[in-house]
Amino acid sequence: MNKMTVRDIDVTGKRVLVRVDFNLPIDIKTGAITDDSRIRAVLPTLKYLIERKAKIILLSHFDRPKGKVIEGMRLAPVGKRLTEILHKPVATANDCIGPEVEKAVAALQAGDILLLENLRFHPEEENDDEGFARALASLGDVYVNDAFGSAHRAHASISGIPHYLPAVAGLLMEKEINTLGGLLENPAHPFTALFGGAKVSDKVAMLKNIMNKVDSLLVGGGMAAIFLKAKSYNIGASEIEPDIITIAIELIKRADKNHVNILLPVDVLVSEKVDGSTVGQVVAVNAIPSDQIIVDIGPKTVDVFQKELKKSKTVFWNGTMGIAEIPQFAKGTQALAKLLSRLKAKTIVGGGSTAETIAALGLADKMTFVSTGGGASLEFLGGEELPGVVALHDKI
Ligand code: 3PG
Ligand code: MG
Repeated sequence: MNKMTVRDIDVTGKRVLVRVDFNLPIDIKTGAITDDSRIRAVLPTLKYLIERKAKIILLSHFDRPKGKVIEGMRLAPVGKRLTEILHKPVATANDCIGPEVEKAVAALQAGDILLLENLRFHPEEENDDEGFARALASLGDVYVNDAFGSAHRAHASISGIPHYLPAVAGLLMEKEINTLGGLLENPAHPFTALFGGAKVSDKVAMLKNIMNKVDSLLVGGGMAAIFLKAKSYNIGASEIEPDIITIAIELIKRADKNHVNILLPVDVLVSEKVDGSTVGQVVAVNAIPSDQIIVDIGPKTVDVFQKELKKSKTVFWNGTMGIAEIPQFAKGTQALAKLLSRLKAKTIVGGGSTAETIAALGLADKMTFVSTGGGASLEFLGGEELPGVVALHDKI
């Protein structure tokens, strides 16, 4: 990475504004945090700063409150979890700018941590408002961006603050960029990409960009329905995005041209409903009943994918193989997660629901790297420049 990092600047005794991505998944019914990986991922940066006696001010958004204070979207529960993980008190604030916050910042001692309130309670955050960025910047002496998961957003706390403060990458940001960048630059071959998930439109840029790097592309999940349809299979009642078939046909042509071996499911689990009230049935891909929806890959497909994955030296995985939040439709995803955890290959997982599934299975430590970025990792692998990275100081 050609950007300066927190290691390149003096932080001792300084007020360090650290942008983190504590937009954690929560249980919609109870509000409980279901995956704290994004907290654990910034611990190296936090520990680095604590050891050097910085005064740490954490900035984050949470969910999409759309510029208003929403009680259920306060960051206090996240602060509590951070306190438990760090074994160190983390103070929280009721806002992210203003006199109260200034007072709390002024009271910070070396090594203290203050987590400011959800940035998105202010509409100015998402509008990349100059005045708001300046107000945030006035709270610190230097700025560290460790929020890889938000680096694709040109928001005040991401691309605005660097106009007013020395701005460098945190250790997570550095690791994400170097690891995902390594996939595009010099992957060990055979390089296999395993793609799933519901939406293809979000992933087209990544698919195109990765197409001339990979040797094989294994397709499951909702994405498989699209590719099967593009190959004229009957996909039953599976819903697909409008106009996506033309794109899929183009991607298949591109794969052919680049000698990329695309493997589609040979069997799938289908169900009439997707609410979890049914168990579904396994059918061959040429025998999908017209009233049934594809909800997972089948066991024969798991075998086919397994053979390919076992030959690989690099594996990149993004997107679940079925409706993984429903246990009976999660078998394909779980089988491949377990397989990946045992491979000798370099295994890199794109964020979002794939990362959550892996964390829930307790397999995150068995992968080479699990990205904390969902949308950000897709845009980065799609070859796009991320505003949060562009804004940081270049290495000199
Ligand atoms: C994410 O989880 O995708 C990031 O935190 C960014 O959030 P957003 O998609 O609401 O901008
Ligand atoms: Mg998102």
